[in-house]
Amino acid sequence: MRITVIGCGYLGAVHAACMAELGHEVLGIDVDQAKIEALSAGRAPFYEPGLPELLASASATGRLRFTTDISEAAGYDAHFVAVGTPQKKGENAADLTYVDAAVTSLAPHLQPGAVVIGKSTVPVGTARRLAGIVAAAQPDATLAWNPEFLREGFAVEDTLRPDRLVYGLPEGGAGDRAKSVLDEIYAVALANETPLVVAGYETAELVKVSANAFLATKISFINAIAEVADVTGADVTAIADAIGYDARIGRRFLNAGLGFGGGCLPKDIRAFQARAGELGADQALTFLREVDAINMRRRSRAVDLTRELLDGSLLGKKVAVLGLAFKPESDDVRDSPSLDVASQLRAQGARVIAYDPQAVPNAKRLHPELDFADSAEEAASAADAVVLLTEWKQFRNLDPAAFGAIVGNKNILDGRNCLDPEQWRAAGWRYRALGRP
Ligand SMILES: NC(=O)c1ccc[n+]([C@@H]2O[C@H](COP(=O)([O-])OP(=O)(O)OC[C@H]3O[C@@H](n4cnc5c(N)ncnc54)[C@H](O)[C@@H]3O)[C@@H](O)[C@H]2O)c1
Repeated sequence: MRITVIGCGYLGAVHAACMAELGHEVLGIDVDQAKIEALSAGRAPFYEPGLPELLASASATGRLRFTTDISEAAGYDAHFVAVGTPQKKGENAADLTYVDAAVTSLAPHLQPGAVVIGKSTVPVGTARRLAGIVAAAQPDATLAWNPEFLREGFAVEDTLRPDRLVYGLPEGGAGDRAKSVLDEIYAVALANETPLVVAGYETAELVKVSANAFLATKISFINAIAEVADVTGADVTAIADAIGYDARIGRRFLNAGLGFGGGCLPKDIRAFQARAGELGADQALTFLREVDAINMRRRSRAVDLTRELLDGSLLGKKVAVLGLAFKPESDDVRDSPSLDVASQLRAQGARVIAYDPQAVPNAKRLHPELDFADSAEEAASAADAVVLLTEWKQFRNLDPAAFGAIVGNKNILDGRNCLDPEQWRAAGWRYRALGRP
């Protein structure tokens, strides 16, 4: 199949490389010249494990190319739309400018029989509206919606071996034709019995935002329990273990700590509420406002705990921040709780020296006022407190004795409940965490 992928960011670049790996002929298109130059040279424009290797092997086959010129999309069979849908400035709603621009610029180049496949996360109702733009430009072209569930850090694996596929299709013969194109694109996954849900546009759009709303709710649920644990002396990690043994609940996504962030969950739950409001169903999702509020409270709680560790004042204290990405195995700092806490600590007078294995360049662009180190040890040198905010493996494996010899004062905030408190206390550290005595 001849495929274009429009928008080559965290989702699109991985999707393009994986589709080429699966044997398709792929053209990646983006308006960002620097990104396209990097990808064309076989360089990943962001950190994603496995992507550089995949770009090298796919480019070597001659099946993967990149361009900034949308007119080169002419003659291709299927076009994935993978551009961003960020939160609108000053509003909860999603900004659909990029999706609209991508579809509008693609429309004049559509050939009869082409299928436009939406991947971006969009408010319900978007696909039906875009289908009108596609049909007006090329009556024999079809629009399908195929939401993406990849996790940054596991994006290559998740794209090559998805845990499910969802097709949102129009009614009638056009839907059948789009389905056969999608079936051909995903032939390998389907042959491996990947579950497939075929539905209408609105269902497919709602699947994606419902999944993210559920995950966000699960995280905020355990973080709400952590708040109660904090005022009672209970241990939220033991509570999560115990309730997680119940198969109906499950242990995953029950890690209390600094909460969720990134380019998806926060903006998706806000856009979902905004859209429900427009549709007159706002009451149904008011709980998501609370989910968001619990999540944001975690950040101020982390700042407060750091102040407590420093005997009531952050002023002039040297604080080593370990972790800036919104999660490990990513350099993504969009709405990162870690970066937010680092910046709040500085705003309240601390001297912040931050380190992250991958996210320093991105963090520096957003917060040039912070100081950055080249290693955890450099950040922690003579620090009054260490705050662990993103649970990279190298931080989880820190040796409390060796690290204790570097710092000025042995104060640690475990913002992700990923260290063994007994071990750290035994090595002479004052250990604090969220929801843990
Ligand atoms: N990142 C994830 O883990 C993930 C997972 C599932 C779904 N999504 C969804 O996928 C979409 C993309 O997310 P992302 O994280 O890849 O964003 P991103 O910001 O990393 O990438 C978006 C890309 O689109 C490009 N772009 C913007 N307008 C364009 C246009 N008119 N033509 C061509 N390219 C254009 C941008 O230059 C950028 O490279 C969002 O809707 C997001 O919610 C993301």
